Amino acid sequence: MSDKYAPVPEDKFSFGVWTVGWPAQDVFGPGTRAPMPAERAVRKLAEIGAYGVNFHDNDVFDFDASESDREERIGAFRKALEETGLKVTTATTNLFSHPVFKDGAFTHNDRDVRRLAIAKVMRNLDLAAELGAKVYVCWGGREGAESGGAKDVQSAMARLKEAFDVLGDYVTERGYDIRFAIEPKPNEPRGHILLPTIGHALAFIGRLERPELVGINPEVGHEEMAGLDYAAGVRQALWQGKLYHIDLNGQTGPRYDQDLRFGAGNVGGAFWAVDAVEEGIAAGQYSGPIHFDFKPPRTEDDDGVWVSAAACMRNYKILREKVRAFRADPEVREALAAARVDQLAVPTLAEGETAADLKDLRVDVDGLAAKGMAFERLDQLALEHLYGIR
Ligand code: GCO
Ligand code: MN
Ligand code: MN
Repeated sequence: MSDKYAPVPEDKFSFGVWTVGWPAQDVFGPGTRAPMPAERAVRKLAEIGAYGVNFHDNDVFDFDASESDREERIGAFRKALEETGLKVTTATTNLFSHPVFKDGAFTHNDRDVRRLAIAKVMRNLDLAAELGAKVYVCWGGREGAESGGAKDVQSAMARLKEAFDVLGDYVTERGYDIRFAIEPKPNEPRGHILLPTIGHALAFIGRLERPELVGINPEVGHEEMAGLDYAAGVRQALWQGKLYHIDLNGQTGPRYDQDLRFGAGNVGGAFWAVDAVEEGIAAGQYSGPIHFDFKPPRTEDDDGVWVSAAACMRNYKILREKVRAFRADPEVREALAAARVDQLAVPTLAEGETAADLKDLRVDVDGLAAKGMAFERLDQLALEHLYGIR
């Protein structure tokens, strides 16, 4: 029986090796699942229909692995990739687990740690390039502070810029076809994290020496932890040509980082997230993987891990179908026109007009003020598509 929601390679679904591989340790207790070698994650992900993976260096080999252990672990990972055909779409660095990174990496107060961090990224960039990754994610989970006096934030921004400039030079000199994607997050594990939102990261990128090499990797849950609209953030990033990667998952409002499977949590937000990503794909503004960064809850055993991973892909395809039906619905088109959504694409000044032309402007203020926007009808149509009755 064919299943229209089953993943196919053209969907370009990818997962972090650490997502399905998470043993589910948390601050209140140890893991409930066995640690998973990277090669098993690769084989199982291929089995359930994924296209690619993202990995941290230390998802594959330990922080303190000897050279021979490192080679052996990379060999097993590479063998699984070759045998399954799974692609390495993306790579990243673990700059947050080892105690040496307790105060961050690129912005650690101690210069020796900052130098170690940049060297660690460079070494994994070599591996990323070798394995074919085109995007390199930078999540600064420990770049931040719990208290106001602990971090000189202006210097921290300068050191962050320095790190990205050095790394930009490195990939350019090496001729690597790799771009960086900064992943914002407001807090957790630090009390406050630098570059906490999409907007902070976009503004920061403008200050870099090679801004074209750096974009963003927005994660659903991270924006929603800050009470923000993920889809709107994605659309701004598309508009700025800066959506280099996406981390899809689920979240229920501002609270700890839930990393639920995609489609769970804020269901309405997931609908608009898919709408935004599909808009970017259709416009040629996004061509990266549809990447999931979730954590199977601690309650789940190994079977539950694969059920939740498969559900991420299934939910994306279900929502994609609903989003397409919404956009194709003649009644929706009519409602969009009634809500004057299409008028926003028209420049506010006509060709040849200048500010001076607005000086003696007369408009029907009372008439405009009295007229409703008809957004409720439009949103009800979206909900009815989502609820499955249209
Ligand atoms: C989180 C983050 C991480 C990063 C990943 C890449 O849940 O806080 O999303 O999962 O994406 O570790 O470095
Ligand atoms: Mn997260
Ligand atoms: Mn993430």
